[in-house]
Amino acid sequence: MGAYSFHVENVQICVVMVGLPARGKSLIAQKIVRYLTWLSVKAKCFNVGNYRRIETAHPTADFFDVNNSEGERLRKMAAEAATADMFRWFDQEKGVVAILDATNTTKARRDWVLNLCRKRNIEPLFVESWCDDEDLILQNIIDVKTTSPDYVGQDPEQAALDFRNRIRNYEKVYETISERELTYVKLINVGSQVIINRIQSYLESRIVYYLMNLHIKPRCIWLSRHGESVFNVEGKIGGDSDLSPRGREYARQLPGLTKSSVGDQPLTVWTSTLKRTQQTAKYLPYRQLTWKALDELDGGQCDGLTYEEIEERYPEDFAARDADKYEYRYPGGESYRDVVIRLEPIIMELERQENIMIVTHQAVLRCIYAYFMNVPQDQSPWMEVPLHTLIKLEPKAYGTEVTRIKANIPAVSTYREKGQSALKK
Ligand code: ATP
Ligand code: F6P
Repeated sequence: MGAYSFHVENVQICVVMVGLPARGKSLIAQKIVRYLTWLSVKAKCFNVGNYRRIETAHPTADFFDVNNSEGERLRKMAAEAATADMFRWFDQEKGVVAILDATNTTKARRDWVLNLCRKRNIEPLFVESWCDDEDLILQNIIDVKTTSPDYVGQDPEQAALDFRNRIRNYEKVYETISERELTYVKLINVGSQVIINRIQSYLESRIVYYLMNLHIKPRCIWLSRHGESVFNVEGKIGGDSDLSPRGREYARQLPGLTKSSVGDQPLTVWTSTLKRTQQTAKYLPYRQLTWKALDELDGGQCDGLTYEEIEERYPEDFAARDADKYEYRYPGGESYRDVVIRLEPIIMELERQENIMIVTHQAVLRCIYAYFMNVPQDQSPWMEVPLHTLIKLEPKAYGTEVTRIKANIPAVSTYREKGQSALKK
């Protein structure tokens, strides 16, 4: 795999989550892993709760009481097992960023992790989520904790009550980070205030910047390819052609399709600089922004050719693209990896925004979809994304829900299977 510019220094980072239960630590941890993986930085989350459940699957609140010495022992054991696996992963799999997902709420526990990291030359980056918004915490408990494996088969009200008692037990010993010698970021009330201390490497600063842009307000993202274009009908790649008559019909139907999904909520539409996305969005009654970064993957010297013509004129290139479609760069053009790199500011801005609709192109849409849905690089360039279909993405606590809304307008397929040059019928 090609080195990625985000990992310029030779550092290994352990992101140590800190915070009381139900403060969004696991959600933040999973998002960091998804973001870094999308950028080809090897990242993995180690959740201490999963290790604790091996011995203690359904603990009640008193298990987490500091005066419960057996509980303390089992919790320490779980932390040791998780960190042992984590260091093994750093060593044997050359991992770059590990997330230690646990409460780590006492200074003593943080010192312990700090020393383990220092012995192995691993940079610890502490990420604390601090939140005193009681309504939000209660909502978090109802949303995710009552369905946690800890409470499987139990009455949700009982589960919520027990979980609140669990939090009380943690509160008795909680020490917010104040160690000035540590590298840390403290997110206060979901980023309404952010405190940053001693951030050193480039990768750390990227992680911190990403965290600063996150919010948890409910919102959706709609993705659509442009309507069928003249080049699509001719089977040609790239170019800057107009919409076909059926593509224009999709543009006319798009406002109705959008309204049925968006309702009366505010929305901003993003298009590329190419005519076919702007013609597709032109009847949408929302604010529109044009991004060069949303332009289609550049086919370089193959731009304007059909796949058959590419196979005939550049057989070696054609085969090389099939062998590794993510890495293959068209001569004078781009690879999927290049597209991901130029989409990074788009992803950052998407995290900051609320309802957004993106009207873009096949390859770009695949890359954006891969970020939200965690699609691996060997699969993302091969995903089928049909024309005349609106995709709704709804971020939820631990994943993204997808809905596809098809317009009833036929279109050619632009999907080429591996090893074929003809398009799928
Ligand atoms: P535990 O210690 O029990 O594992 P946790 O801190 O990992 O808890 P999560 O399981 O991630 O908490 O809780 C998810 C909930 O927290 C989601 O409903 C999410 O919307 C919400 N959330 C996300 N970020 C934050 C934040 N910065 N502050 C408070 N709540 C948040
Ligand atoms: O055919 C439509 C199109 O958007 C082309 O402009 C582009 O080169 C291609 O799809 C990207 O898809 P793939 O990576 O599967 O060739």
